[in-house]
Amino acid sequence: MTVSSGQTYLAIPGPSVIPEEVLRSMHRAAPNIYEGELIEITESLIPDLNYVARSSGYVAMYIANGHGIWEAALSNAVSAGDHILVLATGRFAHGWAEMARKMGVSVDILDFGKNRAVDVQVLNEKLNSEPKSKYKAILMTHVDTATSVKNDIASVRKKLDEFESSALLAVDCIASLACDRFEMDDWGVDIMVAACQKGLMVPPGIGFVFFNNRAKERQKSLTSVSSYWDWEPRINPKFYYEYFCGTAPTHHIYGLRTALDMIKKEEIENTWKRHEILSQAIWAAIDKWSLDGDMSLNVKDPIERSHAVTSIRLGGKNGTKLRQWLQTKSGLTIGIGLGMSEAGDPNGDGFVRFGHMGHVNAQMIMALLGTVETGLNAIGYKHGSGGLEAAGKVLSSI
Ligand SMILES: Cc1ncc(COP(=O)(O)O)c(C=O)c1O
Repeated sequence: MTVSSGQTYLAIPGPSVIPEEVLRSMHRAAPNIYEGELIEITESLIPDLNYVARSSGYVAMYIANGHGIWEAALSNAVSAGDHILVLATGRFAHGWAEMARKMGVSVDILDFGKNRAVDVQVLNEKLNSEPKSKYKAILMTHVDTATSVKNDIASVRKKLDEFESSALLAVDCIASLACDRFEMDDWGVDIMVAACQKGLMVPPGIGFVFFNNRAKERQKSLTSVSSYWDWEPRINPKFYYEYFCGTAPTHHIYGLRTALDMIKKEEIENTWKRHEILSQAIWAAIDKWSLDGDMSLNVKDPIERSHAVTSIRLGGKNGTKLRQWLQTKSGLTIGIGLGMSEAGDPNGDGFVRFGHMGHVNAQMIMALLGTVETGLNAIGYKHGSGGLEAAGKVLSSI
């Protein structure tokens, strides 16, 4: 029997579940883009985006997905011929590095593998071995969505300060914003990139570059910045069209306004806490399931685990088998293993990812885990018992 009715659940790590409120606010006739409420609503987004990022700096908005926003940040921070250092803890840092390379930037990569965070001692050695002013920017992800590794950004900042490095610290929070605690000002982040389709609960379409005065000043020293990516008119628009360098993403603006209202109502500290508890429930279940058979959490140290996405190793072709069973028989969609290929498993068939970002709560996580356990049994996958009970115990503390 193939599932054909009932509510489906997209538990992939973005795009995430879109709240009804957000969808309803987008369901409207086309608004005027020359005057009226759209202009006020657009202006109102900036302080609230800063609230979510704990930033007192600037926010440039773009009609773009994550790849577009990577290019936006690079275009305002570096020129062809500059050197940058990328701290990689999964596929996405490599993706950002590749984009920089194609812009003519010279890229060094410190690769920390697929299941652990950046080691600042290794960074220390690298900075020691290079001329002090070599790097114009250090790029890293806060959370890598493929591995589910979370990095300690403040410790990287501390290390750069010890070396009196003039490099801009640029952080990808595309997976983590509004899920994992992120403190743009306190952690000394110069540039942060994010997008609206994960913790911000809006369909893909708007990306953001957050930046501080240091990055703003640095941009002025670049020989040129393409007019579409230039962040300056977007933060200082003389005319409304300059916010988005052209027609604004009208309906996304309404959706984002509603999503930010929801986060403000919950309060960002509580939003982070909710994500933390839901993640702990997921890890508790997987710890029990892992007591027998081949299953394991990809990231061993809980401090280095994201609260937005969890990457899980099942081994063999079991990841793909489980996903397919869930998709066709239950209405639940979980994420593919991305960038997790191993010897003998080039397609990452042995990995899956659970997305638990944005509009999620305890009953959704119990449904996710209960359905996954049912799927594991259906495909005949050997696992330990007591996963759901362990998750329930964590959730009873909410
Ligand atoms: C951490 C991170 N960076 C960048 C991207 C790329 O974003 P997009 O697929 O919207 O281009 C993603 C997408 O999942 C991501 O998770």
